[in-house]
Amino acid sequence: MSENLFISESASKAEKYEALIPQIEALISGEPDLYANLANISAALKEAFGFFWVGFYLVKETQLVLGPFQGPIACTRISIGKGVCGAAWQEAKTMLVSNVDEFPGHIACNSASKSEIVIPVFKGDVVAMVLDVDSDQLDDFDSVDQENLEKLMKVLEETI
Ligand code: SME
Repeated sequence: MSENLFISESASKAEKYEALIPQIEALISGEPDLYANLANISAALKEAFGFFWVGFYLVKETQLVLGPFQGPIACTRISIGKGVCGAAWQEAKTMLVSNVDEFPGHIACNSASKSEIVIPVFKGDVVAMVLDVDSDQLDDFDSVDQENLEKLMKVLEETI
């Protein structure tokens, strides 16, 4: 297994995702341990894009519980329907929030966070976890992020 990611600094965001996704697929496909794979996905996204915070919350009974992540310390538990993560879980769909201050019930784990995208990860028909990505810039995520992060989570779903 390669220990380095190959991502051109000068590539566009779409090109970076195009280069990154197959490398993550290769990284996780031979590894059965979920937490190891979530840790490496978080690290790969942080390294490629420098996101302020990127990581996973896993569904455990009635709450989302913090899983592997990269970035500042974060809230450990989120109830269904609460915040952007809880909404993505409850509605089982991606939430793209350009200004978190305008999202009713946003949970400010860190006051520097300004925009956010949360992608649900399914096991069968049920949401098993969410990928949460936060930026310290307003309006930092768009359809390129949504399409590619959803594609990446489909790769993860193949392994769970
Ligand atoms: N802002 C999220 C909480 C998780 S942290 O950003 C890492 C939310 O509203 O669900």
